[in-house]
Amino acid sequence: MASSSVTKGKAAEIPYELPWVEKYRPMLLDDIVGNGETIERLKVIARDGNCPHIIISGMPGIGKTTSIHCLAHQLLGDAYKEGVLELNASDERGIDVVRNKIKVFAQKKVTLPSGRHKFIILDEADSMTAGAQQALRRTMEIYSNTTRFALACNMSNKIIEPIQSRCAILRYAKLKDSEILQRLLEICKAENVQYNEEGLTALIFTAEGDMRQAINNLQSTHSGLGFVNGENVFKVCDQPHPVVIRAMLRSCHKGDINQAMEKLNELWDQGYSAVDIVVTLFRVVKTFDELPEYTKLQFIKEIGWTHMRILEGVGTLVQLGGLLARLCKLNMKPDLFELR
Ligand SMILES: Nc1ncnc2c1ncn2[C@@H]1O[C@H](COP(=O)(O)OP(=O)(O)O)[C@@H](O)[C@H]1O
Ligand SMILES: [Mg+2]
Repeated sequence: MASSSVTKGKAAEIPYELPWVEKYRPMLLDDIVGNGETIERLKVIARDGNCPHIIISGMPGIGKTTSIHCLAHQLLGDAYKEGVLELNASDERGIDVVRNKIKVFAQKKVTLPSGRHKFIILDEADSMTAGAQQALRRTMEIYSNTTRFALACNMSNKIIEPIQSRCAILRYAKLKDSEILQRLLEICKAENVQYNEEGLTALIFTAEGDMRQAINNLQSTHSGLGFVNGENVFKVCDQPHPVVIRAMLRSCHKGDINQAMEKLNELWDQGYSAVDIVVTLFRVVKTFDELPEYTKLQFIKEIGWTHMRILEGVGTLVQLGGLLARLCKLNMKPDLFELR
């Protein structure tokens, strides 16, 4: 399904190397991976017309902007150029723009296929001021027989209530590991990337459900270091290697503080910050099956407290050492600590 956009994408026509995120940006709703049900709804709208005002919200890099463009293309076809006004965060979007540019576009006469509306795309709409959003609400109503709005944002609560209530809100979830893997494999094939399984796992781990980041890191690793394996990916992504973090946790579980500190020093000497380390610790411990569930929960609690202290400003090696000491202590016999 999704492979169609990769194989018959724009690749062949473009003489210079585009960033892969752009080169493999899906052109059709069918090619977007993940969020199946929501995309299905958009497909029905694309087929039948009668698009409501919509808000798409969700984390970065999961296909919000792409979906809106695909939808607009599929709705308007050749009339896309005339019928769509796109304003994103890099455009001026204060009250004046809403009053002038958007209104003028909404009033403009454009010939469209029957049953279709002009389309105003406001990408990253959560960065619009509340004032500008207020100015928008009336425009949305007055011109709704000819013009529909599509807003994309990271957090829908940054959009004022009156606009939310005029829109259908579609929430996109983070992409699943398998969905990212599917896309990465397609791109590896199309670009002839040399990779191993561990490399792809590393890309998925570091991307945390963000497809844009996964694809960017794939390209950086491929063009910078050649072979896509775990080690190279972590070099490019500049994150502590989960293998080291896992070894550290294992030592803590055994109560071996010296070994744990050794691993910590190793990461510290490589220049990772306390936040990098504690965040990776959390992400690794969540899926670290060697720990009994009860211990895992206790570890997460301690890591959480430390994360908070680090964010409050004390991101020192001592802080992290303290964490490791507490983790070691969790699994030691209480009578070791009794005062005699
Ligand atoms: N669901 C997806 N399916 C396929 N590619 C995706 C998906 N989400 C993101 N991408 C890739 O990431 C890039 C950025 O996606 P975009 O839609 O701009 O993300 P955002 O949600 O931040 O608006 C796209 O060009 C595409 O290559
Ligand atoms: Mg976007």
